[in-house]
Amino acid sequence: MPHVIDKLVVIGIGLIGGSLAAALKKQHSCREVIGIAKREDTCARAVELNIVDRAYTSLQTVAGELGAQDLIFIAVPTLAIKPVLQDIKNCIPENITITDGASVKGSVYQDVMAVFGEEQANIVLGHPIAGSEKSGVEAANPDLYDKHRVILTPTQTNTRDHIKKVYDVWKSVGADVVEMSIPDHDVVLASTSHLPHVIAFSLVDTLAHDSNNENIFRYAAGGFRDFTRIASSDATMWRDIMLANDEAILNAIDLFSTNLSRLKQAIQAKDAKQITGVFTRAKAARDRFTLMLSNQAYNTTMSNSENANVIYHVAPGGSVKGNIRVPGDKSISHRSIMLGSLAEGVTEISGFLEGEDALATLQAFRDMGVVIEGPNNGRVTVNGVGLHGLEAPTGSLYVGNSGTSMRLLSGILAGQKFAAELTGDESLTKRPMNRVANPLREMGAVIDTAEEGRPPMKIHGGEALKGIHYDMPMASAQVKSCLLLAGLYAEGETSVTEPAPTRDHTERMLRGFGYEVKREGDKISVQSGGKLTACEIDIPADISSATFFMVAAAIAPGSDITLTHVGINPTRIGVINILKLMGADITLHNEREVGGEPVADIQVKYVPLKGIQIPEEQVPLAIDEFPALLVAAACAEGKTVLTGAEELRVKETDRIQAMADGLIALGIECEPTPDGIVVTGGQIQSGEVESCGDHRIAMSFTIAALRAAGQITVKNCANVATSFPNFADLAKQVGISLDIIRS
Ligand code: S3P
Repeated sequence: MPHVIDKLVVIGIGLIGGSLAAALKKQHSCREVIGIAKREDTCARAVELNIVDRAYTSLQTVAGELGAQDLIFIAVPTLAIKPVLQDIKNCIPENITITDGASVKGSVYQDVMAVFGEEQANIVLGHPIAGSEKSGVEAANPDLYDKHRVILTPTQTNTRDHIKKVYDVWKSVGADVVEMSIPDHDVVLASTSHLPHVIAFSLVDTLAHDSNNENIFRYAAGGFRDFTRIASSDATMWRDIMLANDEAILNAIDLFSTNLSRLKQAIQAKDAKQITGVFTRAKAARDRFTLMLSNQAYNTTMSNSENANVIYHVAPGGSVKGNIRVPGDKSISHRSIMLGSLAEGVTEISGFLEGEDALATLQAFRDMGVVIEGPNNGRVTVNGVGLHGLEAPTGSLYVGNSGTSMRLLSGILAGQKFAAELTGDESLTKRPMNRVANPLREMGAVIDTAEEGRPPMKIHGGEALKGIHYDMPMASAQVKSCLLLAGLYAEGETSVTEPAPTRDHTERMLRGFGYEVKREGDKISVQSGGKLTACEIDIPADISSATFFMVAAAIAPGSDITLTHVGINPTRIGVINILKLMGADITLHNEREVGGEPVADIQVKYVPLKGIQIPEEQVPLAIDEFPALLVAAACAEGKTVLTGAEELRVKETDRIQAMADGLIALGIECEPTPDGIVVTGGQIQSGEVESCGDHRIAMSFTIAALRAAGQITVKNCANVATSFPNFADLAKQVGISLDIIRS
């Protein structure tokens, strides 16, 4: 690899400077590394440890040999930077790129202004987010920055070539480089790094000096060790950071002090609910962070879990056998949190889907002050706050990939006194929200969206809603549910008519919570003024998740699988009806009712399938199942024709196009149409398909491998976790040869 720069000059050969020096040497990213340190012995030790090639106690010694191909890295404590800049001004030519590694950027910027009188094109400030409680030249570690984030804070004056050089140097040692403004950097770091150091230093100092118990550390256990590791960081460096970023740190301390006092009061008042609220919120946040760290490299997770690439390699052939229970129903899980939160009393939920989408709903209600315990093996306890007890969230409500969360929440939020903003991931940000925003506006809500009704959705709140009748232009349970939920807050009656029956969980569950919902023909209505009463909810397994294994068994010779405790609500069983029409061997056992929802064990045995014209009235009843059903179509004899399914084009991805692209890549003949697709059954070939980050597309092509001639590679499968977190485990358990690659 060619050198990224010619010479690196590191001023300050401690942990930060020494580690970059050692890393560049290890990666051969430059021809030579020169160290500058105040003390002779540091210089000698750095050479001895092979961290630098040569080292001096003065920058002036090397100034004459430096040129435009070189880089100077200032790695001295924050408040020692100014004299270094003065030195640089005196002896270094202007064309040399200079960067730094200080933890505070505003103060270094002020130093640059004080020394040079103006911003400099060649001084690009930066901050590697990596460190250790160890310090000094001995602590230098060539791998310190690998997979760690480096924040650059360029100004308008910095030229792109200087920025690029700094960027390339950090990239060459494995770092993930991002850009941020100086003020943003200092505020973010004040909370995530500087405040924890304040607390750790202060706690250890308190215990060591003010506890009147010299032996106290003898009794300290792992918790103390974990919590206070950073209190052994370099004291001078951290003092400088406190002084340099005082304003942002003081704000962070104020916020923390307020919350600590609130917790103190809760403990004083023996307010168990309040304490549970703080601890469950904190636990959820920390668990999420732990998961992010363990699943993926630090830098990827810090940016966004969507970027984590998960690839499935699925070996061809085989059959599926066994008896499995797939996770809880996604639609019911969402609604159990929503209605449980708005109810009076404590709702106990079991069978809750611990997938990203339902967890996003759970988090949104926690963010609005609802105390929710769990999930713990599918058990969740929701301490309802009543219809009018939600609190304004402090930030926007982020619902990830979940359209159901956003659309149903918008109805609830329209009825609140406070404003709230709903945001989502890249895929959700492309999905249409005017289908809910427009009728809500008719009810009197004030809602802003991005262009063409896309998220984010800002719901102003505080408006008096009035009941309307809405004739839905599309068969959508989300739109229906959104309006019925808004109807709980609207004056008079709110009613909707649906062009075709869609899943009716909202209606059933509202009734389960003691709220009257009327249905006359295709018109469903609610009156405001009632209340929800907490109840117990036993969530059946999700038929949409069961579908992948039903289709797997239906296409793979020799298969015989039973899916237990699956919800078979008549508005959800399109997949059973369609597969049966294709000739599948499906038997329902042990039909029963659990908490107002019909449930059964579904057995599917392999028999050859035939292509059919899918009856349009089945489409809304199987809307999420078409990716898998199209795989069944690819394995059936003859043509399968799907029409009346334009809604598939606005799901997590355009599912008609994504399935057509994937099937064609696997050698299957198909023709997408505006409202459907025609698939001609044939031999599925080996190949690579793109799931477009859509969970159901990813799982569908995974099962397609059962009938493929060779391996199928499915790209971008991370979002399988949105609806079916243990899909891969269950797939392997029943006989699918699946390998997961994370990159
Ligand atoms: C859902 C309704 C359906 C479905 C989605 C969940 C629900 O969406 O696709 O996965 O829980 O109400 P539409 O209402 O947009 O059809």
